[in-house]
Amino acid sequence: MDKQFRVAIFASGNGTNAEAIMKHFQHHASVNITLVLSNNKEAKVLERAAKFNVPTVVFNKTEFKDSSLILSILHKQSITHIVLAGFMWLVPSYLVAAYPNKIINIHPALLPAFGGKGMFGMHVHEAVKASGQSVSGITIHLVNEHYDEGKFLLHKSCDVLSSDSSQDIANKVHALEYEWYPKQIEEWITLLSD
Ligand code: GAR
Repeated sequence: MDKQFRVAIFASGNGTNAEAIMKHFQHHASVNITLVLSNNKEAKVLERAAKFNVPTVVFNKTEFKDSSLILSILHKQSITHIVLAGFMWLVPSYLVAAYPNKIINIHPALLPAFGGKGMFGMHVHEAVKASGQSVSGITIHLVNEHYDEGKFLLHKSCDVLSSDSSQDIANKVHALEYEWYPKQIEEWITLLSD
């Protein structure tokens, strides 16, 4: 039998990327989306996980900073890979150390531009709009202890017209995310992981 991989998704909000990922791997032979974890008990991603019968865990900041709870949950479920999908907190060093090169993130712009602390969700698209850039896109990258600084795995771009609103940019970027993130996760897990 193929090697089996067990994935935990961390998400803070709406969870449309998490949904695209759960859908992509629903019947996958070797990759199982095992858990969805959120720092927000109101997050819509929790309802989306329920639709796919994926169990959920909600944690607070204290629990996240102290390694014992999160690591024991991940180890108990034999989690091999972590996917961040709209997760808004910095990943603590204990988690990066426990999962070296096994944590992936998507950022809704072409890093290294428009990244770093405070650059998430619509803030990113508003900054792109304000800068007058004619292009934006997505960056899929490995995660280290710093916001948006791990090794880049994939960039995909889209045109930004001067008539585009921040919401128009968000819509174009979301379309790229849904198209590329599940495929890139699959390649990273099944082809690039040791
Ligand atoms: C996505 O666009 C994702 O790239 C972004 O948050 C959005 C979440 O949407 N992530 C960041 O900004 C991380 N710095 P979703 O909850 O509908 O997937």
